[in-house]
Amino acid sequence: MQYFLDRIRIAVAEATRIPPDQIRVEQPRDREKGDFAVPCFVLAKMVKANPASYAEELAAKLRNDLIEMEVAAVGPFLNFRVERAELAKRTIETVLDSGTSFGSSDEGRTQRVLIDMSSPNIAKPMSVGHLRSTVIGAAIKRLFKFLGYETVGINHIGDWGSQFGKLVAAVRRWGAGVDLEQEPIKALLELYVRYHDEEPNDPALTEEARAAFRELESGVDGDVRAIWRRLTELSLTEFDKIYARLGVTFDLVRGEAYYETHLDRTVQRIVDTGITEESQGALIVDLESVKKGMPPCLLRKTDGTTLYATRDLAAVFERWELNHFERCLYVVGMDQRLHFQQLKAVLQRMDLFWEPRVVHVDFGMLRLPEGKMSTRKGRVVFLEDVLDRAVEEAQRIIVEKNPGLLDLELVAEQVGVGAVVFNDLKRERVKDIEFVWADVLSFEGETGPYVQYTHARLASILRKAKEGGEGATSPDWSAVGDAAQVLLALGRFPQVVRSAAEHAEPSEVTQYLLALCRETNSWYASTRVLGEAPPTSAARLALVASIEIVLATGLGLLGLAAPAEM
Ligand code: ARG
Repeated sequence: MQYFLDRIRIAVAEATRIPPDQIRVEQPRDREKGDFAVPCFVLAKMVKANPASYAEELAAKLRNDLIEMEVAAVGPFLNFRVERAELAKRTIETVLDSGTSFGSSDEGRTQRVLIDMSSPNIAKPMSVGHLRSTVIGAAIKRLFKFLGYETVGINHIGDWGSQFGKLVAAVRRWGAGVDLEQEPIKALLELYVRYHDEEPNDPALTEEARAAFRELESGVDGDVRAIWRRLTELSLTEFDKIYARLGVTFDLVRGEAYYETHLDRTVQRIVDTGITEESQGALIVDLESVKKGMPPCLLRKTDGTTLYATRDLAAVFERWELNHFERCLYVVGMDQRLHFQQLKAVLQRMDLFWEPRVVHVDFGMLRLPEGKMSTRKGRVVFLEDVLDRAVEEAQRIIVEKNPGLLDLELVAEQVGVGAVVFNDLKRERVKDIEFVWADVLSFEGETGPYVQYTHARLASILRKAKEGGEGATSPDWSAVGDAAQVLLALGRFPQVVRSAAEHAEPSEVTQYLLALCRETNSWYASTRVLGEAPPTSAARLALVASIEIVLATGLGLLGLAAPAEM
């Protein structure tokens, strides 16, 4: 693809004497218009010509140069249609030569991208929002890595705040009555709910909680801290189970508590820039000057305690100092938009040149059929249950379709979990998602299982070819001439990866894979691959192998497995 784009760009540049990097080559959506198109409005303007007649003039010149394509002027556009065998040979050879690294590059070399992702809160079940952050963040991280960037995935665990005083108080009072070891999150949830039930009638409880948090904040390494540490460890072990199923790892797991010792320094640093003020005993940064109506950022409360925002400021300073990042992405739900606007606004008021590199990668809500959660009331959905159910249903469907499958359990896990992940990445991330079981798991339509299934079918063709010794002949590329849409889609993959990373938008990859599957299935429905004349089968097998590679790579970038059979 890049080959044809370059050919066109250089030929047009030569004919117009306009530098190649200023020439835009598009891929028209409308297939009738050809494989590639160059709009001539801007080019014609540069030489003060009429766009349509200029296009005519250029077409005549280019025809001699670009012998492997048809060149036509249609209105103000130059349209190109590549000779089919040439398109097939170039595209397929490029994919097969690069193999699993097709689409990758080293353009990000020497640049560091930090991704703040997942970041659940200790002692609470991981929410659907944290799941989205994990899945979206991990996909973005893989995309950047594929492009050669050095990536640092950071889990900014919520392990600080006055609720930990409450929990410690609750553990001390009723901890003996719950099973913290077996099902820690459920046990902690029970304690949390009980605390909120009993607090209104028990002022002593409130006082115990306050005292516990005061001790925690004082840094004393005693009883309270030991309980807090245990809660943290128990929770992280639970979270790790989910991360393992999703195949997600972090380069740095660092809780908010870590920044406690940085806070004085952090606040001082901001005070030194002269932008802080006292307001009713609290220390704030006014942000009106950055954006009218933006509420101030509270750095320190009247009682001396710091806030979520203060800890995020401490974190971002340290991240910058240690990494000099190209970008620091925060994959966090849309409900925290104001928080990140304020964070950036403070950096802006401090005149830090790297402020634009700090980006809130926000996303919409995912609504489960079980309804809205409320931790305080104990009404929660356990993500593990969601994953378990997905795997169970996947298993049922697979048994029906392929009763003899050997690795049933493994494949069911890959398909079930993959379905949930794909569903999370399917639409633009800012859109809310309605989670509908039947839609998530369907083997047809816009789902993970559909892409995995398409991949598995291709893998099975390749297996059969190997068994039958087919595909070793030199290919007749004209035999895949009717697969132009598949070929063009394959060629587009590297651009899709680049664009998805740049926009931090994994849905560009999901949508691309769905389109590639649709094109592939419609080609395949009317084509025999195996058992044709050897050069014909060889060409079609080479195409099948190329699609298989791109589907597997794309699924991998999203965090889905690509089972060879299902
Ligand atoms: N723990 C926070 C929450 O659950 C999310 C943290 C996001 N990351 C950050 N650096 N603020 O709401």
